[in-house]
Amino acid sequence: MAAELSPIDKAKFAAAKRAVDFVEDGMKLGLGTGSTAAFMVRCLGERVRSEGLRVQGVPTSNRTAELARQLGIPVITLDEAKWLDLTIDGADEVDPQLNLIKGGGAALLQEKIVATASERMIVIADAAKDVPQLGAFPLPVEVIPFGWQTTQLLIGQVLEGLDVGGRETTLRRAGDQPLRTDENNYILDLHLGRIGNPRQLALMLNQIPGVVENGLFIEICDTVIFGHDDGRVTLR
Ligand code: 5RP
Repeated sequence: MAAELSPIDKAKFAAAKRAVDFVEDGMKLGLGTGSTAAFMVRCLGERVRSEGLRVQGVPTSNRTAELARQLGIPVITLDEAKWLDLTIDGADEVDPQLNLIKGGGAALLQEKIVATASERMIVIADAAKDVPQLGAFPLPVEVIPFGWQTTQLLIGQVLEGLDVGGRETTLRRAGDQPLRTDENNYILDLHLGRIGNPRQLALMLNQIPGVVENGLFIEICDTVIFGHDDGRVTLR
């Protein structure tokens, strides 16, 4: 498969393939969302088919659930699994402490619930997502549609007091409508440029009543596999 891919997809595929080496027979797995995670689900499906690997997967989005089912990976709910051995997911940014920004694919809520319920989280990403400080990628925040503009104002007030590079927030759209997440919520993207204290920001955002969850994953990820466009991977 790797030979026909663009350089960026080669990097994503390399990270995804390596991550699937960590999967063992009998594991309950969290299956991430996004283009890198989709490569991982395909590699996992290949092992299920060719080796008879027995796993059960908890998908983090409707998209991933559909792909896993198509590939013959048994899918269960998190309530059926309760706890997971391993989650493999993508990310939008990774800092040197393995803190993440996620939610570029609008699946951050299920992704955070599933990753938190996992013994181990492995993040797979192309090496361009390796950043010295989080914030260049707009931080997704999932909000309840009711009163979302008030929630946006409250988020702006919280940002006033914090060490961030910018304070613009935008509602994510799908065409001319607000984008709906799998839970039917909205996403506000926070254009911060630089996040001085990600832990503080994550805690403060989640204290605002209309905020469901934010895309900062603090001390949740255990291992990152960066893929490079020559097919190499580096682990951190
Ligand atoms: C979805 C996510 C994705 O994992 C993240 O956006 C990375 O996506 P991709 O692998 O397509 O670059 O958090 O909510």
